[in-house]
Parts: sequence; structure tokens; C-alpha cells
Amino acid sequence: MRAKIEHKLRSPVENSMHRLTSDQQKLLERARALAEMVIAPRAAEIDRTEEYPWDNVDALTKAGFMGMTIPHSHGGAGLGYLEAALVVEEMAKVCGSTARIVVEGNMGAIGAIMAYGSEQQKALAARLVLAGDKPAICITEPDAGSAATEMTTRADRNGSGYVINGKKHWITGGGISKLHLIFARVFDGAVEQGIGGFIVINEPPGETKGFSVGRREPTMGLRGLPETEIEFKDIKVDEAMAIVPPEGLHRGFAGLMNAYNGQRIGAATVALGLAQGAFEQALAYAKSREQFGRPIYEFQGLQWMLADMSTDISAARALIHNAASCEEFPDALEAAQAKVFTSEMAIRVTNDALQVFGAAGYSRRNPIERMVRDARMFTIGGGTAQILRTVIATRILGQKLPQTRDGYMNMPRATD
Ligand code: FAD
Ligand code: COA
Repeated sequence: MRAKIEHKLRSPVENSMHRLTSDQQKLLERARALAEMVIAPRAAEIDRTEEYPWDNVDALTKAGFMGMTIPHSHGGAGLGYLEAALVVEEMAKVCGSTARIVVEGNMGAIGAIMAYGSEQQKALAARLVLAGDKPAICITEPDAGSAATEMTTRADRNGSGYVINGKKHWITGGGISKLHLIFARVFDGAVEQGIGGFIVINEPPGETKGFSVGRREPTMGLRGLPETEIEFKDIKVDEAMAIVPPEGLHRGFAGLMNAYNGQRIGAATVALGLAQGAFEQALAYAKSREQFGRPIYEFQGLQWMLADMSTDISAARALIHNAASCEEFPDALEAAQAKVFTSEMAIRVTNDALQVFGAAGYSRRNPIERMVRDARMFTIGGGTAQILRTVIATRILGQKLPQTRDGYMNMPRATD
């Protein structure tokens, strides 16, 4: 009787495997083997020491998982966001920090540079990422978080280039990344031209004049990656390092955010993997732990909890795979929906997994408590759940809403 029930308890990954092509399945299996054999054994230590996992980066680079989405013409594997998501999920099942490195090595700044960059920019970025560099994307500032368009970092036109001044914070990889994509307000004299993106290389780290890495945040989770301030003082950037989307430098922000939808899918996928990893462990524990003379999965209270967890995970994966099956970048609406749903789902599912373990889940000996802390981040970083709901509402209603900058300017304030 018990054997029959066990046969039916399948993980959602197995349930969705039949939809993958054989190449995608092979990629997933290769990623799973690396995650289980190389990445998983080091995850607790990375969390405890808060050190950047250079060994893991080395293994990811050798396996070809950094720069998978870079086109063949620039030395990459020419894969899409869906393939990158398959690898990210496998890494996140065992180590959230390592999974975020795969995201940034395939889906963030690198996507923008490969889409909009000049040949020189693409070759430069490909060289760094294919050698294991995790690019940093620098948008957020102390006074411009959700309100990213209120950033004050500026790039002033100066002869054949620009001079950048300003301060960013919460930059993932500050102090370890070489390739930086910096968002700045562009000025030609007194005339503002909009927000644009600039490539700045900090190689070797710490030796770029005017580029200084400030305070590191002591974070709740995802501790293998530094989150730091970065200050730019009179950094000279050649014109050739400005990213110009097809609509022009003055439309840089919209173009860059379009590329940034790729990173939102990546963040959602890390949350998905954390949920899947926690779920699989809870499922195994529910089958092995006995109370009242039987395995705890025989109690309906836990059966329904596990059923909801599995349904939540499958729904999130469907949203992500749908958004990731795109031509160039994921659509803004689909990426926002996938990230809102998955980030909130991962908080629920990792917490429920901890509950299945009882006291054993609350112990730091158990990876679940780390996964709960790691999962908490994804309703914040990369656009908060509130902002993404506004992005969704703006698109389904087809109009700018009085929630962000332009609309708010015309609204009476409570203090008026
Ligand atoms: P705020 O904007 O101050 O928001 C505070 C609260 O108000 C939130 O709950 C928010 O949802 C709500 N709120 C704000 N405006 C509205 C509105 N219009 N409607 C409804 N609610 C609203 N940034 C980078 O540039 N590069 C990185 O590499 C990077 N990595 C990060 C890594 C981590 C681990 C974290 C936590 C953050 C990272 N960030 C990074 C920053 C991140 O993108 C910002 O934290 C995020 O955009 C929110 O900004 P904020 O923290 O200033 O919150
Ligand atoms: N995909 C495609 N285009 C986007 C976009 C996205 N995700 N987000 C914004 N844009 C475009 C808008 O459509 C608009 O284009 P338009 O001028 O043709 O209408 C332009 O960028 C400016 O966006 P808008 O929504 O008008 O800006 P705002 O001043 O109201 O500010 C944002 C709102 C964009 C800053 C806010 O929605 C947001 O995303 N905040 C979070 C920032 C973030 O994710 N930081 C992560 C750092 S790692």
C-alpha cells in the first residue's frame, strides 16, 4: 500500500520534464549533476563565511554556464532565457548565492550589452563573462530605489566621452565584479538628455581611478554575494562605452529596462529553485519522519500542505517558462507577473517546508532555514512586489497610473 503511494509522489520538475526538448533535458541533467556534486556541499559554508564562492564560479565557468546566452559569434553557447532558467533553478535548489551568479552571468547587464552594444562592447563583455566575471548592474541609489528614474548619478559630456559622478548602493558584486553597467542621467552642458547606460570596467578590481567600493550590507540571506555602495568620482568614460539602444541615448532608460526584464525572470527563477529545493527536502522528510506510529505524510494536514506547495511551484514555473520563451527579452508584463507570483510563492513554500520539519527545520544544521532567509529577498530586489504590481496594472489598463513619478507630480499631497 505504502509503495503505491510513494510511486505517485512525483516532483513538479519530473512532471514538467516531458515538455523539454532532449537538448534542454541534457542541459538540465548536467546542471543538476554539478549542483548536487559540487555546489551543494559548499552552500552552508558560503552562507556562514559570507565569502564570494570563487570555486563555484570556476566550476560554472568550466561547465559553460557563464555566458550561455552570449551568441556563438562572440564565443557563447547562443542559448535562450529558458535554457538559462533551467540551469538557474538547479543551482538555486542547493545554493541561492551561486544561482544569482548564473543569473547575472546570463540575464542582466550582459543581455543589454549583447542586444544594444557595439561590436567592441560585446567582445569586451563576452571576454569577461566567459572567463567567469559576474557583471554588476548599477541602478539603485540611496534616494532612488523604486523611484529609479529619480537617480542623480550623472554623466556629463566632455570632449569625446563622459565624466561620471554619483553614488549607488545595494550593488550585487561590488568589489568583485569587473564589468559594470552603470545607469546615469546624461547631460550635454546644462541640457539633460535622459537616462543612459555606461560600461565601466574595474579590472583589476580596485584600480580604476575614481571608482570606489564603500560599505557592505550585512544581509539576512544570500550571503555569498557582497551588496555594497559604489561611488564614482570624475570617472572618465570613452564615448565608445555608452550603450545606445536603437531609440537613441535619450531613450536609454526604457531600452535598458526592457533588457532588465531578463534579470527579473532570473530573480524569479532563483526564488523558484529555492522553493523547489525546500519542497523536495520537506517531501523526503515527510516520508521518513514517523509520529503516532506512521510517516507524517499520512496526515492530511501535511498532505494538503505538500499539495499546495507543489501546485504553487508548478504555477510559478509555468509563468517563468512562458516569459522566458521569448525572442529577445521577456515581455515586461509577463516578467513582472512571474516575479511577483514566484517571489511571494517562494516565501510561502520555504516557510511551509520549514514547518514540515518541525523543530528540525528551525535548526541551523538544516539548509531549510538558509533557504527561508534567501527566499525573503525576492519581493524586494529587482523591483519590489508593489512596484511590479503597478507595472502589471499600467500594462493591463493601458495607461500611466498616478503611482510613480509623472502621475504623482499632478496629485495633491496629504501635506499640501
Ligand atoms: P523603496 O523604494 O524605498 O521602497 C520602500 C517600500 O515602499 C517598499 O515596500 C516599496 O514597495 C514601497 N513603494 C515605493 N514606491 C511605491 C509605489 N509607487 N507604490 C507602492 N509601493 C511603493 N539595485 C541595483 O541597482 N543593483 C543591484 O545589483 C541590486 N542588488 C540588490 C540585491 C539585494 C539583495 C537587494 C535587497 C537589493 C538590490 N538592489 C540592487 C536594490 C533593489 O533593486 C531596491 O532595493 C529596490 O528597487 C527597492 O528600492 P528600495 O530598497 O530603496 O525601497
Ligand atoms: N520594461 C520595458 N520598459 C519599461 C519597463 C520595463 N520593465 N519599465 C519601465 N519601462 C519604460 C516605460 O514604459 C517608459 O517608457 P515610455 O517613456 O515609452 O512610456 C519608461 O521606461 C519610463 O518608465 P516609467 O514607468 O514612466 O517610469 P517612472 O518614472 O514612473 O518610474 C520605474 C517607474 C520604471 C522606475 C519603476 O516602475 C521601477 O521599475 N522601479 C524599480 C526599479 C528596479 O527594478 N530596480 C532594480 C535595480 S537592480
